Amino acid sequence: MNRRDFMDRAAAAAAASFTIGMTASQKADAMEDEMIRRLDAVKVVEPWACDIGARGNELRTGELPEQGAFAKKPVEKGPPKPFLMGNDPRLPLMPEKPTLVDFFKYRFAPARHLLQSAALAKRNGHDEKHVLAALLHDIGASTAFRSDHGYWGAQIVAPYVSEEISWAIRAHQALRFFPDPSVGYEYPEAYRRYFGADYQPEPYVVEAYKQARRHKWYMTARLITMNDLYAFDPDANPQIEDFEDIIGRHFKQPKEGLGFDGSPVAHMWRTVIWPNNFL
Ligand SMILES: [Fe+2]
Ligand SMILES: [Fe+2]
Repeated sequence: MNRRDFMDRAAAAAAASFTIGMTASQKADAMEDEMIRRLDAVKVVEPWACDIGARGNELRTGELPEQGAFAKKPVEKGPPKPFLMGNDPRLPLMPEKPTLVDFFKYRFAPARHLLQSAALAKRNGHDEKHVLAALLHDIGASTAFRSDHGYWGAQIVAPYVSEEISWAIRAHQALRFFPDPSVGYEYPEAYRRYFGADYQPEPYVVEAYKQARRHKWYMTARLITMNDLYAFDPDANPQIEDFEDIIGRHFKQPKEGLGFDGSPVAHMWRTVIWPNNFL
């Protein structure tokens, strides 16, 4: 099941539990709980991105087997089949010179968290750079790894955005855990559910927070956390097209396409295009 199907099914299941009089926030909590429940249910399945084997021919037929089915499939007799290298028929084909918007459409979709966070930054009247920071703040979790996603995300976008935006994306990783009453930022209630009431950030996170607190761009990173929506609003549906102007003004799109400009992070974008190449 691809990410869009997963989100759509979770949304449908959550919507079925809505009752008359529920607030948007209660609906969002129901959606979030449903997603967590479903993620818990699928995480025992071998992720197909890691489920590589000599089955290139099967993949190229476009017939999509169930997740993890390959692992249980008996070895077939006959000549070995090539490993997958190149376009994976299970994923949307990307343009030859993909833009950031293409990545949102074909790889990160539905990206509701990023789009809703950016929409909130816009609604709050923040500068365009803050809207872009909100749009990109969790891109690390979409492209690479959830763990230390702020650091990965900052690195992936660094050649294409201002140093301030990249720094802020990195710093939001630590700032999320620390309240700032002066701007009305509180420790996220969702974190108590996610990590437990006793959770304490690692020392390196505390140190990163202290450094960020003293930094001249502290408020840029803090604004990311202020616009960081932990709950999905099932009634809001911003689209990546809503931010194309801002992207055009603040994201240096390479003319060769992301992944093909020879930058130090081009390989990261290519890995998102072809996540299942054998090598
Ligand atoms: Fe984040
Ligand atoms: Fe976030």
